[in-house]
Amino acid sequence: MKISVIGCGYLGAVHASAMAELGHEVIGIDVDERKIGELAAGRPPFFEPGLPEILTSATASGRLRFSTDMADAAGAEVHFLAVGTPQTAGSHAADLRFVDAAFEGLIPHLADGALVVGKSTVPVGTATRLAERLAEVAPHASLAWNPEFLREGFAVKDTIEPDRLVYGVADDAAAATLDEIYRAALDAGTPRIVTDYPTAELVKVAANAFLATKISFINAMAEIAEATGADVTQLADAIGHDARIGRRFLNAGVGFGGGCLPKDIRAFSARAEELGRGDSVAFLKEVDSINLRRRQRVVDLAVEALGGSVNERRVAVLGVTFKPDSDDVRDSPALDVAVQLKGLGAEVVATDPEGLENARLRHPQLAYEASTTEALRDADLVVLVTEWSEYRGLDPAEVRDLVSNPTVIDGRNVLDPVSWRAAGWTYRGLGRP
Ligand code: UDX
Repeated sequence: MKISVIGCGYLGAVHASAMAELGHEVIGIDVDERKIGELAAGRPPFFEPGLPEILTSATASGRLRFSTDMADAAGAEVHFLAVGTPQTAGSHAADLRFVDAAFEGLIPHLADGALVVGKSTVPVGTATRLAERLAEVAPHASLAWNPEFLREGFAVKDTIEPDRLVYGVADDAAAATLDEIYRAALDAGTPRIVTDYPTAELVKVAANAFLATKISFINAMAEIAEATGADVTQLADAIGHDARIGRRFLNAGVGFGGGCLPKDIRAFSARAEELGRGDSVAFLKEVDSINLRRRQRVVDLAVEALGGSVNERRVAVLGVTFKPDSDDVRDSPALDVAVQLKGLGAEVVATDPEGLENARLRHPQLAYEASTTEALRDADLVVLVTEWSEYRGLDPAEVRDLVSNPTVIDGRNVLDPVSWRAAGWTYRGLGRP
C-alpha cells in the first residue's frame, strides 16, 4: 500500500522503515530538516538496534523516501500520525500541539477514501474530536486509532512482530485497510482487537500505567526491604514464579524513565481529572512519587557511602540513558542522579555507550567520558544506573585496580554482590542487604 508516516522520531522512523520492509511504499514526513536529511541518507538520527539495516535496505529499494513537505504525503492511501505528545510545560497534561498541527497540515492533502491512522499516545477523547473535525472538513477521508506498544531497544521487532494489534475504528472498511497493512503479522497469528476510539486510546495508557505500577510496586517493596534487611531481588524471584504475577517488570532499582512511562501516567491522571474521575487513577500519583524517590535514594546512598558528603569527590556514573540499548535520555533516572550528585559538589564523570551526545546537549555542566576505563579511573565511588551489558559484565577485580576507593552503588541490582564483595568492594544495591 501507499503509506505516509507523519513524524519521524523514535516511533515514526521505525514505523516508516518497518512498513517499507514489509513491502509497502512509504514516505516519511517531518518538519526537522536535519532528521529528514539523515534518514534519507540511510542514517538513523538515534540509536536503535536493527534500524540501520532496515532503513538502508528500504531506502535502497526505493520503497522508502523522506520529505519535509507535507504535500509529498498526498498520494498515500493511509497516513500514520506518529508525532510526539510530550508533557506540557507547567502541567501534567499531554501537549497535543504536534498532533493537531500534523493533522491540520495533512487535511488539504487527503485523497478520496484516505485513512488517517493515529499512532501517537493521546488523551482519551482525542480521536473522537479529530474524527468529528475530519467529518466537517474532509468527509471523503476517515480516521482510525492504532496505538503502538514498541519498546526502545526492541522497536524494530516490536513493530514487525507485535504482541497484539489494536484498531480503534468507526467502520469495517478502516479495519480491512489496517488488515491489509499488517497482513504479515496477522498471518503469523498476531491477536487483533477491533474496538472503538476511546477503548483503543485507553488500551495504550492503561498498558503503560500498569507497567509503571508494576515497577513502582517492586520499588515500594525495596523500600520495605531496606527497612527490614530483606532482599527485594529474591522477593521478586519468589513472587514472580506465580504465573498470575510474572517476573517481568519486577526489577527494583533507580526506577523508570524515558519518553513514555513518566509522561503517560501524568497525562492519564490529568485527563482522568478532566473527566471527573481523578480518584480512579489517584494511585498513579503514588506510582510517580515512589519512582522519583528511588532516584533520591541513590543520591542519599552515595552521600552515605562517602561519609556524609560527595563534595569534591570523584564519582563515576555508569550510564546516562533511561535504559540500555537506547541513546534516549528523556526523563532518565540515570542522568537525573548524575545531575543531582554534581549539584551536591561531586566531580561527576558520566559514561555511556550511546547516550553521551544527548546527555551533553541537556546537561553540558557534567563531565563526560566515552571510555568506561577512564571514567572509572581514580573514582571515589562508582554508581551504576543503566544496566548496559558492558557494565553488568565488569570484572570486579580489574575495576578494583582502577578506582581509588572500591565502593559501588548498584542502582539496577544487576551486579553479583558476592563476587564484588569478594574482590574487596563495598557493595550497596537497592532493597538488598
Ligand atoms: C514503554 C513500554 O514498555 C512500551 O510498550 C510503550 O510503547 C512505550 O513505553 P520504553 O519506554 O521503551 O517502553 O521502555 P521500557 O522497556 O518499558 O522501560 C521503561 C523504564 O522502566 C526504563 O527506565 C526501565 O529501566 C524501567 N524498568 C523496566 C525498571 O525500572 N524495572 C523493570 O523491571 C522494567
